[in-house]
Amino acid sequence: MKNLVSIFAGHDANITFYNAKTNKYYSIEIERLVRKRYFRLHVDNSPEYQKDILEQCRDIAEESWGIKNDYEAVLISSDGFVQVDTKEIFNTEKVVTVARHHETHAAAAFYMSPFKEALICSYDGGGDDGHFNVYAANSEGFRLLERVDSDFGGGYLLCGSMIREVAEKSRHQLALSGKLMGLCGYGQAYDGMVDAFQQFFFSRDYKQLAQRAELPLKNQDSPWKNPMDNWVFEGQEGYNIAATAQAGFEKAFFSVLDEYDPHMPLILTGGCALNVLVNEQVKERYDRPIYVPPQPHDGGLSLGHMFLYKKPTERVDVTYAGLPILDRDKLALGGKRVNKKEIAQLIKDGKIVGLVYGDSEVGPRALGNRSIVCDPNITDMKDILNSKVKFREWYRPFAPFCKKEDAHKYFESRDFENLEYMGYAPMVKKEYREKLPAITHVDGTARLQTVTEETHPDFYELLTEFGKLSETNVLLNTSFNIRGMPILSSIEDALYVLNNTEMDYVVIEDYLFGKE
Ligand SMILES: [Fe+2]
Repeated sequence: MKNLVSIFAGHDANITFYNAKTNKYYSIEIERLVRKRYFRLHVDNSPEYQKDILEQCRDIAEESWGIKNDYEAVLISSDGFVQVDTKEIFNTEKVVTVARHHETHAAAAFYMSPFKEALICSYDGGGDDGHFNVYAANSEGFRLLERVDSDFGGGYLLCGSMIREVAEKSRHQLALSGKLMGLCGYGQAYDGMVDAFQQFFFSRDYKQLAQRAELPLKNQDSPWKNPMDNWVFEGQEGYNIAATAQAGFEKAFFSVLDEYDPHMPLILTGGCALNVLVNEQVKERYDRPIYVPPQPHDGGLSLGHMFLYKKPTERVDVTYAGLPILDRDKLALGGKRVNKKEIAQLIKDGKIVGLVYGDSEVGPRALGNRSIVCDPNITDMKDILNSKVKFREWYRPFAPFCKKEDAHKYFESRDFENLEYMGYAPMVKKEYREKLPAITHVDGTARLQTVTEETHPDFYELLTEFGKLSETNVLLNTSFNIRGMPILSSIEDALYVLNNTEMDYVVIEDYLFGKE
């Protein structure tokens, strides 16, 4: 077999390469290359620019991963077409589409998972084959069990659009859902409205929601025209609406999932699987293995399509097989060699350190290769980070990471399996909430990432050294990016953040950079 390339050109556009010689997969989220969040390759861009981007990706694959421009086929997602002749860019005769949106989500998750068979829920704001599909998967393939008439992804986004703190300053409607999830911890659900919200995720009828919940919603006939203009609630009332929306979302989700065998290993994917609150509820509700991949959103579609074509027989891990550092030559600029013991000491001294290691992690969450790390034991660290480094909303929580074997000391959850990608929100144990103020969300949860020597050796070693200095061996990890931009991909951008925010140091692999 020759090399393969797979393209999804819708929002969160991405491209996956398969190296036939080494049997390895690599996945580039194009937003990181063009430095534009949620970047959509087709429709918004001229064919010339689409071609230019695809050529850049092709060249990165050859230079960084040794994938020669000699392809068996180009795979094009059924709802992620491009408006260029890909045979001109990639040396191949064959251009194929083998699956549709949700089956592709399902495959991206299944072949990354440890399971040989599983029930898969793929739910999001909609693809070309529905909004919420349930599959049974095994080595034979994927069998569609149900297509649920609904729009959980779009519905949740619109719930966010009702709230000033979520919607007013957002630059992109796709940012609303994550913010809504962060805000709902500050509210109390209005019990009498939960059922109206639950129904809304199935009916998609905004006007009907306003009537049933007796809410004075704006733009009732055209909520999608400009969701950032829909907001009518603010302050505590808005937080309560957020909590009500989340409660309705969970109730709606379980009304579907409870109909299935509660013991079958379960995979959650599609953009809605980024909802760590419902994922944690799923874990508490059933005694079954659960897997949420690092890239359940559309950023994983080119990988899923590749898997459906290639049908891997072994588990594939692409967690840290994303975009390489684009200007590695700049390492020669300076910086002094540094070891983990020294980095741990800086963090213990209250410094905020940006870390960059090798190829990027895939998915929207920084998992150690493009991360900002600091000590969450420090009382005002959350506010310092929010106001001086990350410039984001005060209500958004920061995520912790710790060694997998230590997780039970600090956090409460049924188990700590498959927590490598921040897919769940376990509770911080009561006795640690005050000791870990920067990572404990207002509702007591934390979006934990567990680390082992295998999953992230650099983070693991850093924790080993930090554990010698601190009684509480938990660190804070947030994504390393320039304000308003995707996770960064260059030393130039890392040094820009260092020199233009209150960040103290940047570590690029083994080199430490201080402020200019
Ligand atoms: Fe999707």
